[in-house]
Amino acid sequence: MISTLHSRTSRGADGDPAPRLAYGADYNPEQWPREVWEEDIRLMREAGVNVVSVAIFSWARLQPGPDTWDFGWLDEVMDLLHAGGIGVDLATATASPPPWLTTAHPEILPVTANGETVWPGARQHWRPTSPVFREHALRLVRKIAERYREHPALVAWHVSNELGCHNVYDYSDDAARAFRAWLRARYGTLDALNHAWGTAFWSQRYTDWDQILPPRLAASHPNPTQQLDFKRFSSDALKDHLVAEREILKELTPGTPVTTNFMVMGNTKGMDYADWADEVDFVSNDHYVHPGPQDRDELSFSANLTSGIASGRPWFLMEHSTSAVNWQPVNVAKRPGDLERDALLHVAHGADAVCYFQWRQSAAGAEKYHSAMVPHAGEDSEVFRAVAGLGATLRALAPVAGSHRETASVGILFDWASWWASEQDSHPTALLSYRQEALDWYSALLALGIRADLVTTRADLSRHQVLIAPVLHVVPARLAKELTRYAEQGGHLVTTYFSGVVDENDHVWLGGYPGALRELLGIRVEEFGPLLGDESVELDGSLTGSLWTDRITVTDGDTEVLAAYRTGEQAGRPAVTRRPTGGGSAAYVSTRLGVEGLTSLLPRLLGPAGVESELPAEVRGLIEPVVRRDAENRFLFLVNRTDDTVVVRGLDGEALVGSTGADGALTLGPRAVAVLRQPAA
Ligand code: GAL
Repeated sequence: MISTLHSRTSRGADGDPAPRLAYGADYNPEQWPREVWEEDIRLMREAGVNVVSVAIFSWARLQPGPDTWDFGWLDEVMDLLHAGGIGVDLATATASPPPWLTTAHPEILPVTANGETVWPGARQHWRPTSPVFREHALRLVRKIAERYREHPALVAWHVSNELGCHNVYDYSDDAARAFRAWLRARYGTLDALNHAWGTAFWSQRYTDWDQILPPRLAASHPNPTQQLDFKRFSSDALKDHLVAEREILKELTPGTPVTTNFMVMGNTKGMDYADWADEVDFVSNDHYVHPGPQDRDELSFSANLTSGIASGRPWFLMEHSTSAVNWQPVNVAKRPGDLERDALLHVAHGADAVCYFQWRQSAAGAEKYHSAMVPHAGEDSEVFRAVAGLGATLRALAPVAGSHRETASVGILFDWASWWASEQDSHPTALLSYRQEALDWYSALLALGIRADLVTTRADLSRHQVLIAPVLHVVPARLAKELTRYAEQGGHLVTTYFSGVVDENDHVWLGGYPGALRELLGIRVEEFGPLLGDESVELDGSLTGSLWTDRITVTDGDTEVLAAYRTGEQAGRPAVTRRPTGGGSAAYVSTRLGVEGLTSLLPRLLGPAGVESELPAEVRGLIEPVVRRDAENRFLFLVNRTDDTVVVRGLDGEALVGSTGADGALTLGPRAVAVLRQPAA
């Protein structure tokens, strides 16, 4: 479906029918007087913009009252954009309900776990489960789709905006009703629910569905399975809204692709995007950099995971920032080179579109200090020059459009159920961060110059010679079988502390940890040994562990101890183990080693699979290699991870971005990206 989009975004002013990368932004013309619109189109053309998302927050403007509509301004905007050769990713405008609606129907407003109403005044103040909201939203979707379905500027539909950004958890009575219906569908009987939720504990047995509530403010820790199911339900409730809007769009415009912008970034964890991906024609993502020591590794990680969610197919970067945002405690401006490098890292990981929030920086409102393609300073600015420069780079990268990711030898398994369950309350430690552990493994692989694919449990895991599954806490019987088969058939599985511990109902696999993976790993843990925040332990090989230790007993004669604890309560006991299986192996890392420790340990874990970096030795760790390919070409992206110039020698290929010197060396300035086109093997 993204190919339909390619052909549509290619109907640009230059009439070139070849696929190309899309380039653009959220465009909010209703914030500006009419005379600015023509200048917008002129500047968009100058920058090489070929797609914009329009009407995302336009509900109040499009429907000023229950039965009054005002589409005139949007008609004009659509026509102007079309005349300028710019395609429109048209929003359904349902993200932020207007004041007349919330005044007439305050029952659509979300309610917090403490019972407080979330009042209007910002945005996204609606309950995903409100039938009243749904009715009004769908009426708007139908109006918009009927009006613009034949418009030549329309290239795609953009459902709502960042579903769940501010309203993922709603504890209202509507939510309670919908939660009960969801539970009935999942469990069928109250007996099954009582079993799954372990309600024999703390006198929680339910005798009527109506007794069940969302996990509202309680006297102590709410039931963990209730909490886990509420997370599953809340993700499903938003997905249900996406599907409801999509159905109307598909009914009226079956050939127009439908998407919605995911938020695969940082700690946004409420939506199980692996589960949502099949509901859109192409995956879109929004990503913002959170400044910190691993910030660009995190960007790469998120882009890579988005590719995994999209099953390796091209996706759409719907939003990121040209420079500072407005919602962090300190909003740092990007440095020279960041704008292009950040965008191209997304392209390297499969983005066929590079879009920003937003086109023109607002003069008023909560986001007036958020950067944009046209900043407050206007077109005579470094930001706009960099924006136009990126437009030219993306044109040079047109051959990449439509290519998919080349499978890497190493996969990193990312699983929402494990993320949700491992970080719940009343656990051995409250300090565990699921995403941070996965990111540390990713950073360590980057430090070694080794490519890895982030994959979800829906992927074909057997495609990777090594599969790293950090904190794979929730392991249903089916997954345990799949991982066992994977290792027996030659795969090399690596997993960590707090993995394999519970099933899909958050019930502990009995007999010793790591429960469902105990036999495969050839070890047994009787008791966890979490460490206090400032505690650490030494391991063989100058490794340092923090956060967690396990009291491990080796149970299989073949299990090797790769490193033992040297200090702490577990001194002398195994810390890192590996059990050879049929053709592969299963390794266990029982503590948090951090990026440095993992970088030093990884070569031993990768050794049996023979995985090594494809980069020349002197640039490993300095350059991130990423590969996309199609039937004829292999596109090797080389991303300078450092603030220094790096020279790469010995790689063949035609430079689509960057240039090779007479000696064949590629010189990458600080934070620069080069792209080599090589023939597909
Ligand atoms: C996103 C949102 C945009 C804008 C942006 C600012 O969450 O979709 O509308 O608010 O953040 O970074």
